Amino acid sequence: MRISQLTLRQFRNYPKAHFQFSPGTNVIVGQNANGKTNLIEAIYLLSVAKSFRTRINTEMVMFDTSFAKIEGDVDAHSRHYHLEMVLSQEGKRAKVNGHEMTKSSDFVGIINVVVFTPDDLFLIKGSPRERRRFMDIELSKLSNSYLYHFNQFSHLLKERNLYLKSEKIDPVYLDVLTSQLVDEQLILIARRESFVSKLNVEAQKAYARIASQKESMTVTYQSGFDLTASDLRQSLMHTYAHDRERDIRFGMTHHGIHKDDLMIALNEREAHLYASQGQQRSIVLALKIALLQLIFDEIGEYPILLLDDVLSELDDRRKTMLLDLLNDKIQTFITTTSLEGLSHQVISRAYKIEIRNRKESR
Ligand SMILES: Nc1ncnc2c1ncn2[C@@H]1O[C@H](COP(=O)(O)OP(=O)(O)OP(=O)(O)O)[C@@H](O)[C@H]1O
Ligand SMILES: [Mg+2]
Repeated sequence: MRISQLTLRQFRNYPKAHFQFSPGTNVIVGQNANGKTNLIEAIYLLSVAKSFRTRINTEMVMFDTSFAKIEGDVDAHSRHYHLEMVLSQEGKRAKVNGHEMTKSSDFVGIINVVVFTPDDLFLIKGSPRERRRFMDIELSKLSNSYLYHFNQFSHLLKERNLYLKSEKIDPVYLDVLTSQLVDEQLILIARRESFVSKLNVEAQKAYARIASQKESMTVTYQSGFDLTASDLRQSLMHTYAHDRERDIRFGMTHHGIHKDDLMIALNEREAHLYASQGQQRSIVLALKIALLQLIFDEIGEYPILLLDDVLSELDDRRKTMLLDLLNDKIQTFITTTSLEGLSHQVISRAYKIEIRNRKESR
């Protein structure tokens, strides 16, 4: 997947701007606050129709103007698309090849992107809830049916919790709800397990290349259930039977995939406790590169990789390793305040986009 051109109008700090990109590595160079992240955000918007920085679309409209327009030419699934998005007080409008899209699902996902921003360190430092969200979002991108079963599960969990709070509880009805909840979970557990195990293999490879062969990272799926049980369905039903009184007493479901987590470790020790800043960044980066491979395996094309501020905490060797690893099969955008520390070979191969203060150049 490639984006070849981007035109911005009244988007963040860009009154009007036009960019052409290389199908390989694009290095976006500029001082702080000049609009590097804004450019990455615009590309992301063309894929997901949402920002990774804000939920409020009008925040992206340039101050004192009434709308923002983002247009991009992209190649995906052996076809060419002209994507257009307009943001204003009235909401957002999306066009594909000049045709207005009424459903956002017709626009979202024409191009796939994987984005890395410093906020992604939540994968290591954040709460289990954030890591579960990561799994759910990535799995939903890989398969519609995951999202379907996940919604079914969420609905059943809500219903069961509500029922547990009711005055009189019919054990037969509670069993029916529990049994349905278990069936949905068996599907989701299998998907999460397989996703994390593939992620683990790919992330380990990427980490060894960026960081060092001597360090090794792992990501493992953490479930409250005993996943080694020979009959998993029976084992889950047994867990719920065992917890029944406690669930009724507290009016909530104590066990389930809504308590899952990911354990991220470096040399077998929990990364959030023992890994340095640079190591944590390298781990998250390795996870993102692993995602590229998982998406490729699923849809047969590499997504576009957006790396914002990834270089600032990597030492020169890691920077060079990272940029070497990004081959020409993956179109990459990488922001930096300076080209220092990047090897000459990398710089000469990459396409450089210099961003200066818009206010000065206007
Ligand atoms: N809606 C908006 N209208 C006009 N300018 C905006 C808007 N939103 C943000 N900006 C401006 O955009 C600039 C920030 O751009 P951006 O975040 O892309 O910087 P950056 O180049 O990534 O900087 P850094 O190196 O610090 O990450 C700021 O000067 C900010 O005031
Ligand atoms: Mg930035």
